[in-house]
Amino acid sequence: MLEKIIFLLCSLSALSEQLCAPDASDGYKVRLSIKTALGDQAYVWNKNEMFLFRATLAFAMRNQISGQDFEVSNIVVCDETPRVSFWFVVTLPANSSLLVDKEKVEEAVRKSRNRINSAFLLTDKTLEFIGIPPTLAAPVKPDTPPWLIVFGVVMGVVGAGIVFLLVSSVVQRKRRKDEKTDDEDIGEETRVKTVENGSASEGVYNMSFSDDDRLTKM
Ligand SMILES: *[C@@H]1O[C@H](CO)[C@@H](O)[C@H](O)[C@H]1NC(C)=O
Repeated sequence: MLEKIIFLLCSLSALSEQLCAPDASDGYKVRLSIKTALGDQAYVWNKNEMFLFRATLAFAMRNQISGQDFEVSNIVVCDETPRVSFWFVVTLPANSSLLVDKEKVEEAVRKSRNRINSAFLLTDKTLEFIGIPPTLAAPVKPDTPPWLIVFGVVMGVVGAGIVFLLVSSVVQRKRRKDEKTDDEDIGEETRVKTVENGSASEGVYNMSFSDDDRLTKM
């Protein structure tokens, strides 16, 4: 019985090795930069981490293709390198000798990208699925329409203008307060001038008056 099981497992792994190979048509290469992402807090990539990877991918496949219960065994990994990179393929739960289409795997990875990244504390740049561009890059561009950018710029300019006006008015008030004594002097001068002007006008009046006087004298 045990021999049979061992034989079955061996044949299964042999099959898996045949299915998964570098540059496999339905496979994807994964590259991890754990040290770049986490520095001193980097964890060591080991069998348990690989199990988690396969489990998260099985989860992603289940989310993508409903009704198909992908298991960890459906995620077949090969060509693993120590500075971590590896290839993987996804087999069908119904028939593990058949591979899931590359496009479906890509869609599944895109859909669950954030969940996969967060499981390994990595980002799109430090957990690369080679050939699958990051999902966030594409939808971000249409999310900010051009009118919003123009609106933002206009509002920024208006806001800056308001701030400039407020600041300049405050500065002017301060200057007025500082030069209050000077202003008072100037005020006195102007008062004097107006008084002089008044006297001048009075002088003119007086002139006419004097003319009258002359007329009366005449
Ligand atoms: C799985 O698919 C292969 C290839 O199409 C076929 O030969 C095999 O019989 C299938 N196995 C099962 C269990 O359906």
